[in-house]
Amino acid sequence: MSPPRGGAEAEGDRHRPRFHLTAPAGWINDPVGALRRAGRYHLFYQHNPHGTQWARPHWGHVDSRDLVHWRYLPEALAPDADGADADGCFSGSGVVTEEGAALLYTGVRGAVGPGQWQATCLATSTDPGLRDWAKAAGNPVTPPPRGLRLTGFRDPFVWWVEDGWHQLVGSGIVGRGGALLHFRSPDLRHWEDLGAALVGEGEHVAGEWAGRMWECPSLLQGPDGALALVSVHDGDMTTHHTIGIVGDFDGATLRPERARRLDLGPDWYAPCVLDDDGRWLVWGWSQEARGPAGPARAGWSGTLTPARVLTLADGWPRLDPLPELARLRQRRLPVDGSSVESSWRAATAGDALDIELTLTGGGEAAALRLLASPDGEEATTVTIDRAAGRLELDRRRSSRAEDVTADVVTAPLVATEGPLAVRVLVDRSIVEVFAGAQPLTARVYPVRADSQGLEVTASPATRASLVVHTMGGATPPA
Ligand code: FRU
Repeated sequence: MSPPRGGAEAEGDRHRPRFHLTAPAGWINDPVGALRRAGRYHLFYQHNPHGTQWARPHWGHVDSRDLVHWRYLPEALAPDADGADADGCFSGSGVVTEEGAALLYTGVRGAVGPGQWQATCLATSTDPGLRDWAKAAGNPVTPPPRGLRLTGFRDPFVWWVEDGWHQLVGSGIVGRGGALLHFRSPDLRHWEDLGAALVGEGEHVAGEWAGRMWECPSLLQGPDGALALVSVHDGDMTTHHTIGIVGDFDGATLRPERARRLDLGPDWYAPCVLDDDGRWLVWGWSQEARGPAGPARAGWSGTLTPARVLTLADGWPRLDPLPELARLRQRRLPVDGSSVESSWRAATAGDALDIELTLTGGGEAAALRLLASPDGEEATTVTIDRAAGRLELDRRRSSRAEDVTADVVTAPLVATEGPLAVRVLVDRSIVEVFAGAQPLTARVYPVRADSQGLEVTASPATRASLVVHTMGGATPPA
């Protein structure tokens, strides 16, 4: 396989997002290991530096002072041909320790599939910039428990409480359901098996469909209860979406009370969380919705959504855009239109935009046409229908290209009274819609150079305030 080009060529690629992170070159999937140390945020990601398809993951590494401007750092972890991670350094988490920081990740051996051996490994760093990582001599530190028929054993989530380090591993028990396996350690090296913190009821948890294998778990505990995030895998190699499970965690077991999806779109998965002094931040992976030829040509594949703020609102998980994103705004665009016609327009808005739309007055329905060519041949339409309780993203005409997903994504919109604040982040080949507690993320690939228009139409008598900013980049050109 020829190495991806990346660098300057990928920068000139019109589908490469600007304020969403991509790998400097190659394939990216899960964001992992987020931590904060010495005034910097560190984020890692599943990375194949050698190609634009998933293979033998490494841990790529970026850091930032402000959560919106990032710089690329050397690869933190790479598989060792004769190590416990010979066939990949899969996902996991990062923690700050007295000596520096530690990464707990999944070392795998063997081909992908039910027979693959997966176990938690440890790497530590003592250098202030966290550039050098040393793998523990005793790896793996947590092999899968014996006597259970597991659908997988990966993606450790690690946190500290008074009685030691705790680790939850994403798993599933054959015939029972998805599972979170729980371990405890005094030193991150020796782990005691505490049994399962949670097992699904068949393919459900608290009434929500939850598949047979839970990937990339995390557990957050706040004053209003505990929230576990799991990414649902059906056990047969298909990734689905992420659910939030709200309940009560007594230190050993999570009693689920309710569960629902975190993001309603097709292209958001495997989130990574960081407790940022009590503010929960969440990054996610947005995979491509096109065939392999485009990524192979461009030299990159996949992108990460900027941190979102996660809260428990009325007992349900809610995701909102990161306030700091406003720092990437470059120019406020003039918008034509009026409330008389209930229509607003920015003729050449651009393809990296932060759109704020507030609907008042009538305000029960509105449609945004994004990335639209002047003649309408290409356009992505987002419809917000409060009366019908429906949010829709239509990508049937998003692109003239043929090897892209061209469908209509429909999701429930929880009814609210009064003004509705909608936020849409458009970044070349990704659209994130925030209209209520659950965002909707999807990938689109307009090919025409003039697919840069933005138009908003609302139901009669609606008053709208539409504020549109162009956005700058998250990384210096690679
Ligand atoms: C989720 C996932 C994880 C695994 C990683 C491998 O997308 O399947 O379960 O650790 O990707 O890259």
